[in-house]
Amino acid sequence: MIDFLLFCCLAGVSLGLDVRQSPSDLIKSPGDKVQISCSHDRKDYRVILWYQRSPGDTALKLIGYLYFKEATMEQPFKEDFNISGDLGGSTAKNASLIFKAVKPEHGAVYYCAAREAR
Ligand SMILES: *[C@@H]1O[C@H](CO)[C@@H](O)[C@H](O)[C@H]1NC(C)=O
Ligand SMILES: *[C@@H]1O[C@H](CO)[C@@H](O)[C@H](O)[C@H]1NC(C)=O
Repeated sequence: MIDFLLFCCLAGVSLGLDVRQSPSDLIKSPGDKVQISCSHDRKDYRVILWYQRSPGDTALKLIGYLYFKEATMEQPFKEDFNISGDLGGSTAKNASLIFKAVKPEHGAVYYCAAREAR
């Protein structure tokens, strides 16, 4: 039974950066813990941002961002989401958006983007 549909589509390109997001789409049931991730190869880019675009809405809402290992979450998303990863070091970068327990109203397109500094 499909209770819930979540699209997490290919995403943010910032400053010519090739940002990869996985998985590209997901179907989950309410209450599931979900983790999607985003990676790129620019070793000096220490910030990964996550955005949500709700169906029927053109606005990209900032969920939060990761700077090194520190997640800063926007107020409306604090309860339901978290961001984890480690953007320190001189390796490829990877940050995950975590849905603590997915809800029907989380059905949206999720974008990530990267930038050099906060
Ligand atoms: C959110 O993720 C960070 C790691 O990025 C972790 O330290 C923190 O405990 C998490 N917070 C919650 C509320 O899950
Ligand atoms: C990014 O991190 C997540 C969580 O640790 C992991 O599942 C995923 O495979 C990683 N992606 C890449 C491209 O390393």
